[in-house]
Amino acid sequence: MKIYQLSFAFAAALLLSSCIQDKVDVDVQYYTAEEYNVLKAALNLPDNVDEYNFSLSRGAAPAISNTKATLGRVLFYDTQLSRNNTVSCASCHKQELAFSDDKAKSIGFDGGSTKRNSLALGAVANFSTSYDGGNSFVGNGTNIGFLWDERAQSIHELSTIAITDPVEMGTNMGELPGKLSRQPHYEILFRKAYGDSQISAERITEALQEFVNSFVSVNSKFDKGIERQFTPTVNFTNFTPVENLGKALFMTNCASCHGQDMTNPAMRVANNGLELNYADKGVGGVSNRNDEMGLFKVPFLRNVALTAPYMHDGRFATLEAVVEHYSSGIQMHPNLHPLLKQPLNPDQPKRLNLSQQEKAALVAFLHTLTDEQFTKETRFSDPFK
Ligand code: HEC
Ligand code: HEC
Repeated sequence: MKIYQLSFAFAAALLLSSCIQDKVDVDVQYYTAEEYNVLKAALNLPDNVDEYNFSLSRGAAPAISNTKATLGRVLFYDTQLSRNNTVSCASCHKQELAFSDDKAKSIGFDGGSTKRNSLALGAVANFSTSYDGGNSFVGNGTNIGFLWDERAQSIHELSTIAITDPVEMGTNMGELPGKLSRQPHYEILFRKAYGDSQISAERITEALQEFVNSFVSVNSKFDKGIERQFTPTVNFTNFTPVENLGKALFMTNCASCHGQDMTNPAMRVANNGLELNYADKGVGGVSNRNDEMGLFKVPFLRNVALTAPYMHDGRFATLEAVVEHYSSGIQMHPNLHPLLKQPLNPDQPKRLNLSQQEKAALVAFLHTLTDEQFTKETRFSDPFK
């Protein structure tokens, strides 16, 4: 093809895509009065779709479809996703608790106990990373998996796991589209999101993924500090001396796993010495590898003051108890991470032996990670009347 032909083809393609874009803008942004009446009967949705895209001063953000995220919001809060219509995603991922819950182990649709503590959602890079099952947004190239043992590669995959899990929601994925189609609002929401009103398992999980990927929590006191001073390790002018002491202790003793700036963890999985014999084998339970027994996802600590109890099994009720663990409780384990062993005596666990003042300072620092705005954002809230 000659150059001018090529540029013609390119211009034609551009023209075409801008037409499609226009059509999308007109058709998809607004509801007709009739459609809106149907939506209003069951839902508190704005008459225009909310904006779910965001930009990050640190790191890349995923591109979100506003109409899919709107559909995802309704699905996320819909108890019809569970077999007996009692549990929604939000039952175990509550907005006011940074999308975690307050149980040691979450309770499923039939009152059964899940195996693990609910993970908080909304940790920026956490969700943009695996947005498209392998498209890494993390600067250092690591692709973070989902769940405590990282066995899911995308929220897409994970949503299917949650919906079909016999304890969590107990639903047969094949029957779900038919069940949802009996709600008239879904006909509209699927059409706005996908151009036609067909409901499929694929679309359900994609819309959920789109919604969860849009959770962005970047308005904590810590974020304000880092925006002003750029470097997480310097003293922040908006912090109290106690918070700055806690931050310094964190940067020295914790950041090599949990990360310095709360966007990416520095390490994906680790053993942090909870005990010698793990009832739950974590990553090793999936891979069956001895050197992965007792390894768990290094959780994001954004909003951690809201997400008690702590650890994969919810064994610690408070942040004070977590800090006490690192101060005096680390247990030896064959896979204990080297950072938690004594450098000169690696057969022994490293216990920080913090003073009361230092423990209180670490806890005060962890409280600076709370983002009140995120927990109140209407576009993430329950839309059902
Ligand atoms: C019965 C409680 C329950 C329900 C219902 C539930 N979850 Fe979860 N969720 C959990 C628990 C517990 C974990 C951690 C499980 C594990 O690691 O094995 C989790 C983990 C997750 C994670 C992983 C976060 C990370 O950092 O790895 C995401 C995302 C998530 N859930 C989204 C959803 C969505 C979307 C739905 C609805 C389709 C849903 N959950 C329904 C309890 C629940
Ligand atoms: C070697 C890596 C490593 C280091 C160092 C480390 N952690 Fe952790 N942390 C982990 C892992 C892994 C978990 C999850 C373990 C589990 O649930 O089995 C965790 C869990 C936590 C949790 C619970 C979060 C939740 O949502 O349940 C908190 C809080 C925490 N760490 C704080 C700290 C603090 C404070 C320090 C420094 C004093 C620290 N960590 C040092 C790896 C580390």
